[in-house]
Amino acid sequence: MAKVWYLGHSCFSLEVAGMTIVTDPFIRPNPKAQHIDFSSLKADVILVSHGHQDHIADLTDLARQTGALVIACYEIGTWLQKQGYENVLGMNIGGTAQIDGVHFKMVKADHSSSFADGSYAGVAAGFVIHGAGDTIYFAGDTGLTRDMELIADEYVLDMALLPLGDTFTMGYADAAKAAQLISCSAVVGMHFDTFEPIRIDHKAAKDHFRQLGIDLTLPSVGDIIEL
Ligand code: NI
Ligand code: MN
Repeated sequence: MAKVWYLGHSCFSLEVAGMTIVTDPFIRPNPKAQHIDFSSLKADVILVSHGHQDHIADLTDLARQTGALVIACYEIGTWLQKQGYENVLGMNIGGTAQIDGVHFKMVKADHSSSFADGSYAGVAAGFVIHGAGDTIYFAGDTGLTRDMELIADEYVLDMALLPLGDTFTMGYADAAKAAQLISCSAVVGMHFDTFEPIRIDHKAAKDHFRQLGIDLTLPSVGDIIEL
């Protein structure tokens, strides 16, 4: 049974097959995550969806603190290595990796990717994570795209972590369509309420998903969701 701990924005700490996997570390600069104790965080693997600051602001420090293997697009891996951090697996869309019994696949996301100085950070991505009978899709930042159907062709998802804050990613109506394309009826929302432009109406979002027969969780920072 996977455990999903929400650390705010698109940052989760996932326990899959005994492995601690942290996604898109953005904790200390997140006004909504000030009660999370960064210095106590652990990780075996850090997954990075793309280079925008609201996904990598804490990446270098969390990597150094934990010694985790960082799985990211090739260009982000190179960027980390230039800072002297070597435990990196650079990948690209379509690539898979098998790490201690957990399978990772880097999948397409429809979004941009650059570093804070505007330099090229490769392409934006999502990941499918599969281990010990649990299969989770972490979509990263993305708009709705039919390519998501390919995920349902290959995997039976137990849970999808989908952005739904609108403005920079899908809004909740498109996220519900995405859930249908990937045939997943358990969705955890992310990338919402952190900043004003991505504030959402929780009741409207939940009602919309309910009408489609999809379970939507909109976690508060610090919540733990059992799969
Ligand atoms: Ni982004
Ligand atoms: Mn973002």
